[in-house]
Amino acid sequence: MGEGAKVDNLSMSAILEIHDKVLSLRQAKISDLPTICAIERLAHKHPWTLKALEPEFSHPWSRFRLAILRDPLGGDEEAVGYCLSWLLPGELHILNVAVLPDYRRLGIARKMMEDALRLARQADAAQIFLEVRISNEAAIALYRSFGFEQVGLRKKYYEKPVEDALVFVLSLDGESA
Ligand SMILES: CC(C)(COP(=O)(O)OP(=O)(O)OC[C@H]1O[C@@H](n2cnc3c(N)ncnc32)[C@H](O)[C@@H]1OP(=O)(O)O)[C@@H](O)C(=O)NCCC(=O)NCCS
Repeated sequence: MGEGAKVDNLSMSAILEIHDKVLSLRQAKISDLPTICAIERLAHKHPWTLKALEPEFSHPWSRFRLAILRDPLGGDEEAVGYCLSWLLPGELHILNVAVLPDYRRLGIARKMMEDALRLARQADAAQIFLEVRISNEAAIALYRSFGFEQVGLRKKYYEKPVEDALVFVLSLDGESA
């Protein structure tokens, strides 16, 4: 978990300032789990539980990224979103992207998606996959803005409420890392 404690500040050109704070992304640690669960509860009607999220910290293929805001002059960090993905042979699968409701439409999910794309490119992944509820207009708009295209439909994939999932793919073939 030593690597997890490392904060990857975004490059100067990519810095996002929100309410006079600076956004950065870092690898989540197991001690961040309660914070991630709190974000989940506020972000989703049917959030992932602690029990469901905990094993993700021991899977070698899981990538848990936390978006944090910090006063540039110092002070505590505030976690405002997270992204969970699986780095599999040849592909990155994004399982969840969530931002606290009070911090939406500020570009935080966009930064997490850019981070995921960077991860996929560094790993020479050819594609990024994800599923999204057919009614989730915000997430669909986010993914489309990155060039994701719908390649499938999983009928009744979600529960509570039962709903279809759109399968989206972004092809990275032909790009250099
Ligand atoms: C989807 C979600 C992650 C977006 O987070 P966000 O930080 O508000 O998104 P950003 O501010 O980075 O928006 C980036 C782009 O996504 C699109 N977008 C985001 N929210 C949108 C909305 N409510 N309506 C339409 N487009 C939206 C826009 O294209 C936006 O760019 P713009 O603001 O320049 O128009 C957030 O709404 C959320 O946490 N939802 C609940 C959890 C969820 O459904 N996650 C997806 C699971 S598959």
